[in-house]
Parts: sequence; C-alpha cells; structure tokens
Amino acid sequence: MNNSEIIQRIRALKSEKNALLLAHNYARPEVQDIADIVGDSLALSQAAVDVDCDIIVFAGVHFMAESAYILSPQKKVLMPDADAGCPMADMVTVESLRAEKKKFPNAAVVCYVNSSAAVKAESDICCTSANAKEVVASLSEDEILFIPDKNLGRYISLHTDKTVHFWNGHCPVHQQITQGDVLDAKSEHPNALFLAHPECRPDVLELADGIFSTAGIIKYAAASNEKEFIIGTEQAMIHKLKKDSPDKIFYPVSPYAYCSNMKMATLPSILKALETENTAVTVPEDIRMRAKYALDRMLEVLP
Ligand code: 13P
Ligand code: SF4
Repeated sequence: MNNSEIIQRIRALKSEKNALLLAHNYARPEVQDIADIVGDSLALSQAAVDVDCDIIVFAGVHFMAESAYILSPQKKVLMPDADAGCPMADMVTVESLRAEKKKFPNAAVVCYVNSSAAVKAESDICCTSANAKEVVASLSEDEILFIPDKNLGRYISLHTDKTVHFWNGHCPVHQQITQGDVLDAKSEHPNALFLAHPECRPDVLELADGIFSTAGIIKYAAASNEKEFIIGTEQAMIHKLKKDSPDKIFYPVSPYAYCSNMKMATLPSILKALETENTAVTVPEDIRMRAKYALDRMLEVLP
C-alpha cells in the first residue's frame, strides 16, 4: 500500500470504529496531518477527557497514552508502537521517589506528566510545562519536591518563593542543546527571536526571548509581529509552526534535537493499531485511581 492508500484506510477505520487520532507536536509531520487533535501534553490530556469516541490512538509516548487511559478508562487507548517511551520518565522510580520523600516529609511532590502512572500515584499533583508555574502557586505547602526534570524544576524555582528540591532527571533531547548552539544560531539569524522549551538547560534558557510549552511556542509565534524565530525544542515542531504561521521563518536551534521515540508512530503502525486494536495501554486500577487524583488536581489549575 502506498501512503495515500494507508491514509484512506486509516480514515475509514477511524470512522468505522469511532476512533480518534491524537498526536503530540513532536509527531511525524505526515502523522500530524491526519490527526484529529495535535497539541502539547496538557491539551492532549484535556482532549482525552473531552473527546467523544470509543478508541483513542495515541501518536506520542507511553506516559501520554497512560495518562489518557487514567483519565478516561472507558475508552480503549492504543499505542501504534508500545516501545515508544520517554527516557526522562524512566529517570524516576517508585522506590527512588519513596526514599526521597522521606528526606523531605513536608514537601508536596509535584510530578511532571513525563512520568509513569506508578510515579504519578505517589505524587500530590501533576503538571505539564504549560501549567507548572500555576500548579506550584496553587499549593499551600511552602516546600516542593519537583520530579523528574531538573531543568523545568529550576525554571519553576525562579518563579516561586517556595523551596524547591530538584530531581536529577532530564530530557536527553533538550539537554544536548547547548549555549553554543544558541549563540551560533543567533549570529546566523540576528533578527530572529529565540523561543525555548523549559526542558532546556538553564544557560540555554538565559538566552531565550520566550520560554513556553510546545503549544505556547506555536501560539506565541503566531501572535508575534516578528517574522523569524529560532526554535529551542524538538525539530518536528517546525512543521506545526509553519502550518500555523506560513508567513514566518523558523530555524531549528540544533539539527540533533530529535526525539526518536516520538517518531515511532508511523502511518503503517497507526493503521495496524486500528486494524488489530493493539497495543492497548492500561493501568492497574489501584494505581490508576491514585494517579488520577494527581492528574485531576492538575486539570483544575488553569494555565
Ligand atoms: P509539551 O508539549 O507539553 O511542552 O512537552 C514537551 C515534551 O517533551 C513532551 O514529551
Ligand atoms: Fe521524553 Fe524528551 Fe522525547 Fe519529550 S522530547 S518524549 S521529554 S525524550
């Protein structure tokens, strides 16, 4: 089958099975183009609750599909490739978190959604990059244990008077973006604004003209009067940026900012998932209920 036949078949199966395709902003361009909703982690979590369908096919990574199931267990949540994980999410385990919680018994655990369901279940509240500041501000506790992204945690600590304890996790894709990459891009494109994701290193964020979630970067660029932007996050974002702002120019800050896990959902694997209804992501009910508490609390906080 060629791509247009695959796309036709995906569309037919989606309507036959009352299925919707949700894709993250880092998904492959051709996948974004046939998705029903493309967005950041927050928008996709909200969509999992709001959409009326029997099946969600998730073109993202495992924690995203897990979150969709946690929030909406009556829907079947399919991952085109169940091996699509997030290395940052694997940097915190239940055991290591329990040990750290003992060190800071008065701290509220704020858990970035890039984490497993079991870790969310051990946390007080979740956040995404779009609402992390507001989530921290909403808490009555003066002490926070922020897991697992140390860069997002440091960024948040600059916007709160609370004491923030960091976890030593990071996103390998954003961590490898250096200050040198930014300075090179800025000297090559002196009129461009530099927009960065808060998963970047602190010295990279220092050079940013704006720091936002993936959806925030897209929204900012669309509304801006400026014409050129250096994009400090994963490069598949450029597809959505160009689509939403065709009159503007976008430069990736680094050719290496590529998340291979986010590219594991392909047109053929999405078709196979719809045909076979595999692989369905589920979470044991006791963990789901506790993780849902942390996600529900997050969804009550408006960014
Ligand atoms: P957002 O789309 O929520 O900004 O997250 C970026 C990311 O790295 C997801 O894995
Ligand atoms: Fe995880 Fe980073 Fe890939 Fe996002 S971009 S899924 S944080 S490895």
